[in-house]
Amino acid sequence: MSSGSIRRGNGHNYFASSDDSKICVVMVGLPARGKSLIAGKAMRYLAWVGIPARVFNVGSYRRAGTPQPNANFFDPHNTEGEKMRRAAAEAAVSDMLQWFQSGKGVVAILDATNSTKERRRWIHERCQEANVETLYVESICDDEDLIMNNILEVKTTSPDYKGQDPEVAALDFRNRIRNYEKVYETIDDNEKHFTYVKLINVGSTVIINQIKDYLSSRLVYYIQNLHIKPRSIWLSRHGESEYNLTGKIGGDSNISERGEAYARALPGLLKKSGVPPNTKIVIWTSTLKRTIQTARHLAAETGFEKLEWKALDELDSGVCDGLTYEQIAEKYPEDFAARDEDKYNYRYRGGESYRDVVIRLEPIIMELERSENVIIVTHQAVLRCIYAYFLNTPQEQSPWMEVPLHTLIKLTPRAYGTDEQRFKADIPAVSTWRAKGTSAKHQEYPTEIKA
Ligand code: SIN
Repeated sequence: MSSGSIRRGNGHNYFASSDDSKICVVMVGLPARGKSLIAGKAMRYLAWVGIPARVFNVGSYRRAGTPQPNANFFDPHNTEGEKMRRAAAEAAVSDMLQWFQSGKGVVAILDATNSTKERRRWIHERCQEANVETLYVESICDDEDLIMNNILEVKTTSPDYKGQDPEVAALDFRNRIRNYEKVYETIDDNEKHFTYVKLINVGSTVIINQIKDYLSSRLVYYIQNLHIKPRSIWLSRHGESEYNLTGKIGGDSNISERGEAYARALPGLLKKSGVPPNTKIVIWTSTLKRTIQTARHLAAETGFEKLEWKALDELDSGVCDGLTYEQIAEKYPEDFAARDEDKYNYRYRGGESYRDVVIRLEPIIMELERSENVIIVTHQAVLRCIYAYFLNTPQEQSPWMEVPLHTLIKLTPRAYGTDEQRFKADIPAVSTWRAKGTSAKHQEYPTEIKA
């Protein structure tokens, strides 16, 4: 069998309703309502499940001609400003339709205020002519704290205010919002023929209208689960296992002595990573012994709630379960080579590929988006997939990422990305990492063991 024909979990688009369905997600809402945050997250989620998605941000097009306008530019009576804003919207929509036409795109996210009925009708017509469905996502927010947080974020991160006094920037941005308020029309019953979702105060109330296909319904489900409360997610592999010591993959072995030392050290490591007082954290493990054993001292010492998820079990290595990489290379040389060639899509005989793992992790990601602080004790392949979602790691890279044993990773989602910190326990462990194209030999178990 040639490596090209070896089991691949192919199909890049596992939940599109049909091969040619294309969707333009049209963001709607006043400035500082979290539209760019929602757009960015939706794009990351779609890319993670293998759907080609891209954000078209009208502000970026406008900046090409007017890099740092003041609030007057956005006054509806400013005809020159209005002309330039219209031109920016036209350029963004044209590029978006060209992207669809090139065959590269499945979901585009048009990130702009799109705050008038006239603008939304125009977008709908342009999309309809190009056979692209529209899905309007309106973010409505009257929670002053949320708006204030967004204003702070914009004045410190937006290129519109780069180099400006933060107080002057905040005032100008508020005036810009006032100008938009003069013409803003919320989506109402006169737009009942559109597919739309209205999010009120970031998901506390959600109104959904006319969702027509599976892809849109998944997207809407994802978007309605988002929240923007500050929180962290901690990721850890299980402590070193008996199988790790002998280089075997899969199985359901116990943790080694050093793995047990890591399990005992985990509560201290978590504390060291910085947990605000009275923070409630939920512990998630797989159903396999090595993760449950690793989390048990943490659960006992903190009293945190603990959940076991089948979906967090390690990638199923099928007929290779219980073998070392050396044995796999010897028994199934073509499989070994095929996996090196395309590790993301390669599916073990009778087992899974990374792509399969991503699909079974989708409910985990949905639940993580709904949750606040969570520590996940799981396995190397599963952890790589979860990490790839938060850090937007491309599929060809994620299966090769080094995720060492006895290391706690703290991820803190921010408005425009995720902060990462790593905390290493001072407890040695074998390395289970193998670089692409290297020998199948596993790291020898050292004779001197410091537990
Ligand atoms: C902008 O120019 O910053 C955004 C244009 C818009 O969405 O109204």
